[in-house]
Amino acid sequence: MTGRFVTFEGPDGAGKSAVSTAVAEVFAARGITLTTVREPGGTPLGEAIRTILMDAGMQHSGAADALLFNAARAQLVATVIRPALARGEFVICDRYADSTLAYQGYGSGVRLDQLRALAAVSTGGLVPDRTILFDVPVTVGLERRRHGPGDQQTRFEDDSRHDRAFHERVRSGYLAMAAEDPDRWRVVDAARSLEQLVDDVSDALADLLTPAWSEPDGAPVRTG
Ligand code: TYD
Repeated sequence: MTGRFVTFEGPDGAGKSAVSTAVAEVFAARGITLTTVREPGGTPLGEAIRTILMDAGMQHSGAADALLFNAARAQLVATVIRPALARGEFVICDRYADSTLAYQGYGSGVRLDQLRALAAVSTGGLVPDRTILFDVPVTVGLERRRHGPGDQQTRFEDDSRHDRAFHERVRSGYLAMAAEDPDRWRVVDAARSLEQLVDDVSDALADLLTPAWSEPDGAPVRTG
């Protein structure tokens, strides 16, 4: 039995974590076992690496960041994601290898082919069944984070290190990856309300869940 692997991607402030929590509740109500994890983190090693990665007092090159994110990823894939999939569970991972392509690749200029090779090592070739891109204009995303709890802001949102142009490159990188592989990617408009987003994401996952997800008439379940 093999589960399904879904990743959430998008710029900072797109609301992925709130949707992830709400979708988990919808799944639970349907009796579907869901494992939710986030990157970087999700394992003791990953959480320790997260502390280093988010430390605003340290300088990091794009390549150093890429290696650290992939080290955390390798541990998460081997000890949490693969075992959950082997148990037949549905796994949602908040950020995955595409974040490194978007931020360190498109954003910071590390070569994409080298980042793909690195991801092949850290994931052992585990590619998501579906990736949801929470797309939001850069200014909207950054404003949301500025008005949110201060501890949610990351080193990547510090204007002196990563300016508006960096975030625009991240966003267009994501949109380019989504356009290249429409079978795997679905783009949702993250400027919509949380309730609408949960509906959009549920629709974008419905085909992975059939028949457990379907109403008796086969219509996808709506949450609103
Ligand atoms: P986090 O607090 O998890 O932010 P979010 O809620 O936006 O996911 O911080 C993760 C930060 O790390 C975020 O700014 C994106 C960045 N990041 C990378 O640059 N590369 C990566 O491979 C990953 C996983 C995250």
